[in-house]
Amino acid sequence: MVAFPEGLAEHTRANMRDHLLAVQEITAYLAEGKYDSAAETAEKRLGMSSLPSHGAHEVAKYMPSAMAAVGSDMHRSASEFALAAQNADATGDVKPALAALAKVQGQCVACHAGFMLK
Ligand code: HEC
Repeated sequence: MVAFPEGLAEHTRANMRDHLLAVQEITAYLAEGKYDSAAETAEKRLGMSSLPSHGAHEVAKYMPSAMAAVGSDMHRSASEFALAAQNADATGDVKPALAALAKVQGQCVACHAGFMLK
């Protein structure tokens, strides 16, 4: 159980709902062969580029270090997925991008398995 200040907990949950929406949109783009759109959505909403808009700096200081580490890994993996999706656009092979997306999802699962908000 991790204690976040009241407003920040609500902000985090809203952010999380957008994470899930982003994963859904990315999956739909992959199914449609819109790999560039999948890459852009991942980078902007989940990847390293999303950190300022999430107020990541503000939230991270309330996290136990193991939790912050999973969070950082997830953002990094999402940026790696974005590169893999761009590669799929060039090669036509979507499997590496799917594997990279599964890795991102594994980090969602890992953090939820380990940490909850009070
Ligand atoms: C670093 C930790 C961490 C990572 C990574 C993470 N989450 Fe979460 N997530 C949380 C915490 C903490 C909660 C709040 C759980 C609770 O209510 O106690 C949460 C809650 C949620 C919720 C419920 C929001 C609500 O309205 O209550 C959703 C949906 C969600 N996460 C989706 C995701 C998705 C999708 C990913 C990956 C793309 C992800 N999360 C990655 C920590 C994380």
